Amino acid sequence: MPPDLDRDPFAEPRRRDGVLLADFEGEPISMILGHRAVREAAKAWQTYSSDAPFRVPIPAETGVRSVRQLPIEADPPLHKTVRDQLKPIFLKPAAPDYAARIEALVGRLLAPLLDAREIEMVRGFALPLQSIALTHLLGMPETEAEEWIAWGTHVFHDGADGGAKGAVLADYIRRRIDAARRNPGADLFGAMTRMTIEGRPLTDDEMAGIANLAFAGGRDTVINAVAAVIAHFAQDRPALDLLRGEPRRLPAAVEEFIRVTAPLTHIGRVCPHGAQIGPYRVAAGGRVSLCWASANFDDTVFDAPTELRLDRNPNPHLGFGSGPHSCLGAAQARSILRALIRQLAERTAAIDLVAQERSEEHFGPITRTAGFRSLHVRLHAR
Ligand code: HEM
Repeated sequence: MPPDLDRDPFAEPRRRDGVLLADFEGEPISMILGHRAVREAAKAWQTYSSDAPFRVPIPAETGVRSVRQLPIEADPPLHKTVRDQLKPIFLKPAAPDYAARIEALVGRLLAPLLDAREIEMVRGFALPLQSIALTHLLGMPETEAEEWIAWGTHVFHDGADGGAKGAVLADYIRRRIDAARRNPGADLFGAMTRMTIEGRPLTDDEMAGIANLAFAGGRDTVINAVAAVIAHFAQDRPALDLLRGEPRRLPAAVEEFIRVTAPLTHIGRVCPHGAQIGPYRVAAGGRVSLCWASANFDDTVFDAPTELRLDRNPNPHLGFGSGPHSCLGAAQARSILRALIRQLAERTAAIDLVAQERSEEHFGPITRTAGFRSLHVRLHAR
């Protein structure tokens, strides 16, 4: 793993008092650190609520979207009502024929890159892979991904035009909802016309909130994880050779990459009645963060947590969250990473890392590398 991704910048505050007070655009937020504390907070939805439109992500997304994302920005019973009806779509990757389609997709996208001179893998591979794979998940034609790829790597925040980019997504979603209302098909949009909340059909805003999360939630997370896998194997060829022809090892390898890269560093909750987080008092209505990345490096749970061990077992990481909101797209992310690792093992002889530009996140005094803005490599065919 390239230096920094396998580092735990939260280790010291976690050991000191289990919390880090960080400033997010002028809002002081206590980040809950450590495996046990994060897992317990993720379960305690009455104390740490998700019923907070625009305020579950940190920083808040008030300026970049106008609909409440569902089911992530809701508590029970609304959360469960929506989540249960989405499960048939999000659990599709568990079917064996779905895995075969993702394998074929990864193979098709890798083929032209083998023995090419130099490829930038974030926009040149990870973005199209994530986008086309999403068409499979949402039941849409692959051609639909052309428009999604044109949005770039972060649908809200790439460059200074966050609001404008959010509007592009919102406009796309409205068009798809209108089309589904006229002629509902078998895709996510058609499925949403058949969903209900308390016996009534969904409003356009509720449909837009579900779609917004489906497009935004699995975008940078998957792209960062894909780039991290490629960067790692550029520097650890023996591990890739070991995985070749041993598909039973792939699931553990995927979990370990999710643990160490923790592509979603943290997420917010609101405390309706206030809370005491270590030495810090959170006022009623104030926010806290659940730091998945810190939980994943907790040395009371993981042996040598900064080491990437591809056969780590058990691996109770919280990279996909925990409790009622645990990631609905985890099966999709796992199927993409499994196929990627297998194809890299079977089809490349070496990966040269030519240049990389990290994307950094800042938490007060702490900086965390969350992925790559760009990753230039050469892939040598076997
Ligand atoms: C490596 C990739 C991914 C990571 C690390 C990741 C991480 C997470 C985490 C930590 C949560 C919990 C949020 C919370 O507790 O508030 C979450 C929720 C969610 N994720 Fe992912 N995610 C990934 C990929 C995806 C993909 C591909 C999709 C869909 C296309 C997706 C859709 C969702 C949805 C819908 C939720 C909300 C579930 C709920 O509220 O019940 N994620 N994800």
